[in-house]
Amino acid sequence: MTMLTKCWYVWDGVDERFVRIRRPSQDSKLAKAIRRVKIRVAGMRDKQKLFEFRREALETEPEIWLPDELDLHKVRKNIKEWNLAEYPNDFIIIAELEGKIIGFLHLTICYRLFDGGPSAWVEDIFVLKNFRGYKVGTKLVRFAREIAKRRRCKTLRLIVGLENLAGLKFYRRCGFKISKIGLATMKLK
Ligand SMILES: CC(C)(COP(=O)(O)OP(=O)(O)OC[C@H]1O[C@@H](n2cnc3c(N)ncnc32)[C@H](O)[C@@H]1OP(=O)(O)O)[C@@H](O)C(=O)NCCC(=O)NCCS
Repeated sequence: MTMLTKCWYVWDGVDERFVRIRRPSQDSKLAKAIRRVKIRVAGMRDKQKLFEFRREALETEPEIWLPDELDLHKVRKNIKEWNLAEYPNDFIIIAELEGKIIGFLHLTICYRLFDGGPSAWVEDIFVLKNFRGYKVGTKLVRFAREIAKRRRCKTLRLIVGLENLAGLKFYRRCGFKISKIGLATMKLK
């Protein structure tokens, strides 16, 4: 039996910072149901489900997204235009419970010149608010790790904000080592 952490960090959209809270108690019915969660790679047939997942993610926690990520028309258009065949090194990994997507991890594999081989990155990870704390995120990372290993990657990396206390705790728990690095983004259009 694993020990659950007693406190959580959650984003406070008013003060714009992570705050420490008492870990919410687990819903035993949900905990039991989540044992049946299926982790798999999404395909073109999952587009509508992916849209519904994103919509729920935006609607339940609008405060954690950037303003231009909240535009549902843009989200729908982007998902519609997504063509798996164009991105053979990308894996949209989903956690599905009774036909509904409750968690998502985008894994991408690129070539790293000085390693002389492939390198794996977690581009995005998200679990819907009501389903957090039931190891769905951990299962998504494990699945991604297996794909990366099969693709001969030596490392699995990601970028996490050093202020994201929940993310830092979660990634450490998953086995990542955190180094002090920031996220630098350049908008290209
Ligand atoms: C981070 C996230 C993916 C974790 O998913 P999850 O399914 O709830 O995580 P798990 O249940 O697998 O948690 C595993 C461990 O991570 C830690 N952890 C998870 N959420 C935490 C939180 N909010 N605060 C502190 N520790 C947390 C705990 O140690 C937990 O182990 P425990 O349950 O034995 O105590 C999810 O909270 C999320 O989608 N958050 C919003 C988006 C985000 O922050 N993404 C990462 C940004 S880079």
